[in-house]
Amino acid sequence: MCGIVGYVGRSSNGEHIGHNALDVVMEGLRRLEYRGYDSAGVAVLADGEISFRKKSGKLSNLITELDEHPLPESLTGIGHTRWATHGGPTDQNAHPHLADGGKLALIHNGIIENFAELKLELVRKGVTFLSETDTEVAAALLADIFRTKLNGDVSDGGLTKAMQLACQRLEGAFTLLAVHADQPDVVVAARRNSPLVVGLGDGENFLGSDVSGFIDYTRRAVELGQDQIVTITADTVEITDFFGAPAQGKEYHVDWDPESAEKGGFSSFMEKEIHDQPDAVAQTLLGRSDIHGKLTLDELRVDVELLKDIDKIIVLACGTSFYAGQVAKYALEHWCRIATEVELSHEFRYRDPIVDGNTLVVSISQSGETMDTLMAVRYAKEQGAKTLSICNTNGSTIPRESDAVLYTHAGPEIAVASTKAFLAQITAAYLLGLYLAQLRGNIFQGQIKDILADLGKIPAKIQRILENEEQIKELGRSMADAKSVLFLGRHVGFPVAMEGALKLKELAYIHAEGFAAGELKHGPIALIEEGQPVFVVVPSPRGRDSLHSKVVSNIQEVRARGAKTIVIAEEGDEAVKAYAEHVFYIPEAPTLLAPLLATVPLQIFALELAQAKGYDVDQPRNLAKSVTVE
Ligand code: F6R
Repeated sequence: MCGIVGYVGRSSNGEHIGHNALDVVMEGLRRLEYRGYDSAGVAVLADGEISFRKKSGKLSNLITELDEHPLPESLTGIGHTRWATHGGPTDQNAHPHLADGGKLALIHNGIIENFAELKLELVRKGVTFLSETDTEVAAALLADIFRTKLNGDVSDGGLTKAMQLACQRLEGAFTLLAVHADQPDVVVAARRNSPLVVGLGDGENFLGSDVSGFIDYTRRAVELGQDQIVTITADTVEITDFFGAPAQGKEYHVDWDPESAEKGGFSSFMEKEIHDQPDAVAQTLLGRSDIHGKLTLDELRVDVELLKDIDKIIVLACGTSFYAGQVAKYALEHWCRIATEVELSHEFRYRDPIVDGNTLVVSISQSGETMDTLMAVRYAKEQGAKTLSICNTNGSTIPRESDAVLYTHAGPEIAVASTKAFLAQITAAYLLGLYLAQLRGNIFQGQIKDILADLGKIPAKIQRILENEEQIKELGRSMADAKSVLFLGRHVGFPVAMEGALKLKELAYIHAEGFAAGELKHGPIALIEEGQPVFVVVPSPRGRDSLHSKVVSNIQEVRARGAKTIVIAEEGDEAVKAYAEHVFYIPEAPTLLAPLLATVPLQIFALELAQAKGYDVDQPRNLAKSVTVE
């Protein structure tokens, strides 16, 4: 999830009447920095040449670079703020990427799934690459098409045609913006499964990942459809599909203020991130399997023979990431038949754990900087374990120090309490589990394909929950005075219950506990008194029947003692209705995948309740996003 901006302004009779492109682009990047801050870069066109600057780190590093090495005044420019996926957050991997002997500059948001095969093809043609990115491959492909197929002819929309042909060859999700020195008054952009909006000005036009990229200049925006290409000049906006057929965008007026535009119109980053979850899961799945359902995790950079010999997995994590690990345990053991322990990172190295060369230590961390987890990983390495990091932050310390890494592609998480990273972590852990099962032959390839297909349906199902969120929001608002809320779950529903309780503690400062439903009778049931709210995550009645009926019995037990029960159940589960004050239905999913759905209503509940109490949900008291102390 990167941020992109494009701009073309006009000069009249040699007089510059538009804005300076660099000013527009930098202002847009400042507003889009929430989308990624690993590196930033800009390119402008002046005097028939492309000039660019790019720098790793936050936008402030680029600003310093521009102060020291200014760019010329210009009417055409593009800018990028990066959330690294392919290649670490270095100067070299920062965008723009140049091709065609420095005459073409390209920026990109998304993941190009077939970049490896395209790169091979281009290398065979003699192209050399300076970075590790898929973006540079797209730039080289565009340049190659422009030169070899169109003979560099710009008389009839050369760059637009080249972009159409290039997009026909690209797979994955991408927004691309390109400029060429031979067509200095044009920015060409393409979009597939990745955001792009056009801003309409008077004698100037804009492009942005979202409207915050140009909100300081215009409120007139055009929404593009999937698989469309847009060519902007100062006075024109032309849209086509990938094959050159004319297409239409939908014009609308932006009535958000700049601050809410950054949050996509939501009241908080947390709300936005909860709504980002279909995308976070989809992006994490993207490019990880081929059409035959074979997982291709070459990015792990690890000797597969070592993985085949693993006889134990230890998952290390803290907080929400720890609960993701607990969900993962069920899948890892079921699919790979490898004994799996899940341990809080800060407890791990103080208990003399049994670890050897056949142990795979999987750390899970959104930030990749959590000191407790880092120390635990270092300790595991010292003991001879193989270490693999599931992480959302490219280039952070934990993945750098691990033997292997599987990145989640949730995009930056700004709200302190974790939401979308949790679902992305579970998704990545499932991919790892299926990959190990594939390597070791634990399950048939056909089954892996079926599970991947089920995973592929999860984003749309999350979207359905989000579209019906009003019922759970209303409950959240109505419970603003609650003093304590309990959460029960069983099997994979148990960590979901604990995550539901954690969200409520963090956001609403309400006492909340998550329990394994079966454990209730061993003590916690003493907490139940008249009116005590209890959430129950009910497993699918289509799964192992005993599990469903046991949880229904648990609901009856707490209800008999006066609890007010709120049930999360699968659509069609009529049996639970009789025992619940409120039932929230989630779409059907295989048992192991259900946490990706059941968590969502609990997040929305905590958010809404906290907001009803007037709390700052993005920065809850006493918490920090990245806990870099032990
Ligand atoms: C809870 C939350 C924390 C983090 C924990 C680990 O909402 O955000 O519990 O999950 O501090 O952080 P990472 O995943 O960055 O290692």
